[in-house]
Amino acid sequence: MKAKPDWPEEFYRNSFYNPASAEAIKAAPAEAAFLIEKLKLKKGASLLDLCCGPGRHALIFAKRGLNVTGYDFSAEYLAEAKAKAEKKKLAVRFEQGDMRHIPYKNAFDAAVNLFNSFGYFLNQEEDFAVLQGLFSALKPGGMLAIDIVNGTYMRNYAGPYSRTDLGSSLLIEEREFSKEGMTCAWTFMHKKTGKSRSAVFFNRLYSRKTLAELLEKAGFRILSFFGDFSGARLTDKKDRIIAIARKPARPEKGKK
Ligand SMILES: C[S@@+](CC[C@H](N)C(=O)[O-])C[C@H]1O[C@@H](n2cnc3c(N)ncnc32)[C@H](O)[C@@H]1O
Repeated sequence: MKAKPDWPEEFYRNSFYNPASAEAIKAAPAEAAFLIEKLKLKKGASLLDLCCGPGRHALIFAKRGLNVTGYDFSAEYLAEAKAKAEKKKLAVRFEQGDMRHIPYKNAFDAAVNLFNSFGYFLNQEEDFAVLQGLFSALKPGGMLAIDIVNGTYMRNYAGPYSRTDLGSSLLIEEREFSKEGMTCAWTFMHKKTGKSRSAVFFNRLYSRKTLAELLEKAGFRILSFFGDFSGARLTDKKDRIIAIARKPARPEKGKK
């Protein structure tokens, strides 16, 4: 099994997958509330939602009084996010672009990257470019939250195969693990018609240690790690890593 370098372009299309499932939409308000607290966000603070998708969190952050910019490469998801914002009369700036080329400089009080939207690139230098872009986009003292799968958990417990019942269809996941990460084939199969659609993706698997190292290399200071959005301690048995980090208020010696 092999993921193409540009696998996200086919994967993140409504014809294959949309991250705003009913379950994910239901979870978003509590996740946003947790992040507002941990990032110490006050009304009016500027927030970048990197890889915002259809705006699950961006809309809630805006409703809570934050000045939100959602950034994503998918025109389809951004159109969905904009339509929802208009319907709810929420002012959110949605911009289209690639996370490896974040265009903002010293612009935000905080940034978030949620629901496993990091670790997509076959070349790790590109993950690093994302963190450098986030660092530049933040004001000095700006806060960052990254929420990804826990690589240690996936290696120990996920196994090569799983099936999830999604109601009218099944999601069949096949996984292959390598030193770098996980290559995964997702097949959605419609239960009645038997029709299926498949795609292969790559997730670089980060542990608490390797994510901390990359964040620190990009200039961030790590403040805390959590294992879920209720604030549980991060252990190897938690399937998520939520990292909270900060751009130092003043440039540190030897760093830009
Ligand atoms: C798993 S979804 C998460 C979406 C959203 N954060 C959420 O929680 O619902 C990953 C998102 O990353 C976006 N994405 C993938 N590759 C990207 C890239 N290179 N640059 C910008 N966005 C990208 C996709 O379009 C998709 O919206």
